[in-house]
Amino acid sequence: MLVTAPATTTGATKAHQGDLSSVFVHLGAKPPALDPRFIKLKQEIAPSDPSVLQAAYERVVKALKNESLEIRQRGPNVIPEIPFQSIVENNGRLPDDIAAQVKKRGVLVVRGLIDETTAKAYKQQILDCIDAHRDTIVGFPADKPQAWELYFTKAQCACRSHPNFTTAALALNQLWHATSETEVDLENNLCYCDRLRIRQPGDATFALSGHVDGGSVERWEDPTYRKCYQKIFEGAWEEHDSFDVTHRVDAEMDMYNSPGGCSMYRIFQGWVSLSSIGPGGGTLKVCPLVKEPMAYILMKPLLEPHLQKSDLLGSWPGRCSDITPENHPEIINDCMVSVPHVNFGDAVFWHCDQVHAVEPKNESNCDSSVLYIPSSPVCRRNSEYLKRQRDMFIKGWTPPDFPANNCEENIEGFRATPSTLDANQKLGMGLTPLPIPPHEGHKEEGSLTPGQRKARLQHNQILSPFPTP
Ligand SMILES: [Fe+2]
Repeated sequence: MLVTAPATTTGATKAHQGDLSSVFVHLGAKPPALDPRFIKLKQEIAPSDPSVLQAAYERVVKALKNESLEIRQRGPNVIPEIPFQSIVENNGRLPDDIAAQVKKRGVLVVRGLIDETTAKAYKQQILDCIDAHRDTIVGFPADKPQAWELYFTKAQCACRSHPNFTTAALALNQLWHATSETEVDLENNLCYCDRLRIRQPGDATFALSGHVDGGSVERWEDPTYRKCYQKIFEGAWEEHDSFDVTHRVDAEMDMYNSPGGCSMYRIFQGWVSLSSIGPGGGTLKVCPLVKEPMAYILMKPLLEPHLQKSDLLGSWPGRCSDITPENHPEIINDCMVSVPHVNFGDAVFWHCDQVHAVEPKNESNCDSSVLYIPSSPVCRRNSEYLKRQRDMFIKGWTPPDFPANNCEENIEGFRATPSTLDANQKLGMGLTPLPIPPHEGHKEEGSLTPGQRKARLQHNQILSPFPTP
């Protein structure tokens, strides 16, 4: 569960060693001071008439309070869920009622994404790997790891490119839209190689308090990122479209080479469960709303009482945005719920703007284990990172976004290599080119939009030359 980083880092390796504690302020990272120039930035962004934003903020507080009633009443059941088979039977699309719920809630549980036997086999492979190489594989915390610095095990690579995972990710991507010229291909999913969690019963170290990934101050500071939230900054947050990808693919999500930041644009974050675990078992918590919390978070620092300070209320350069009871009580105190009980092979996806957290303690008798796997469409940023990740994969070194422990280098047999990947895995890892249909069109059968076509051509160009099989 990683925080996002960006395009200034393209080509740069985050040349540090460490673990998750370098990412989150509440795990020990030190918040950098906010420069006074943020006062000027805030004053430039805020509408000239302060009453516009104040009124909009009051409306969003009221909306959150109203929504909190249903969230409190329904608890985890407020999160929509669907059997994987229902996506297949609906031709790879989410049924309309589920799609409408995800657009509001931002989050979805997919039941049986991976069959239970396969999910259990993935877990056993990983446990065997850790047992065999306990002296070299590191994790957080160092003395009793709950999150392991493993990225390229055969099990992780197989799960990321499992046809069912791709089907679910692409079904979710269809909730998003862009102009036909936007250089993005939502019909292919690239592999972002992230960590895994095996959180032991009783563990209280791997608690993550409320936060939003995908950068922090960048949502205010980067002019392109700001365009994604234009309606919010105008005080018309009700008109904000959380599923418009048009400006997101060019947004600068990591202006400060954030340690632990994610260089890919993850349209949804996600994990696949390797446990049978429920609320209280150290699992994910979310605010099951996507538009209102982001409107609240972005507008509040621009209100009169805060406008003379550089403070962005929990957002610091190079870190994720912390969402706290002090700064965001209507979200954290009233609207957070745990995800419902999940079984081996169930998956959870959550929107890139979603406020989320990890329960403070695993109170259950089982480990709470997941493979972190986001949905990452084809766009320049993602193709560029995939190339750098591919180089590390071939060497067996740690992927570029993560602490350079290279502790997988000598776990032969457990680690995937180009020769162990199947065709789907090779495509997702950037080892083979994306198919380019012969003609351009406007979403007729077999055709691509101009932007989609450009994204694929650009992808193949960036990743050329492809390694020989
Ligand atoms: Fe996160």
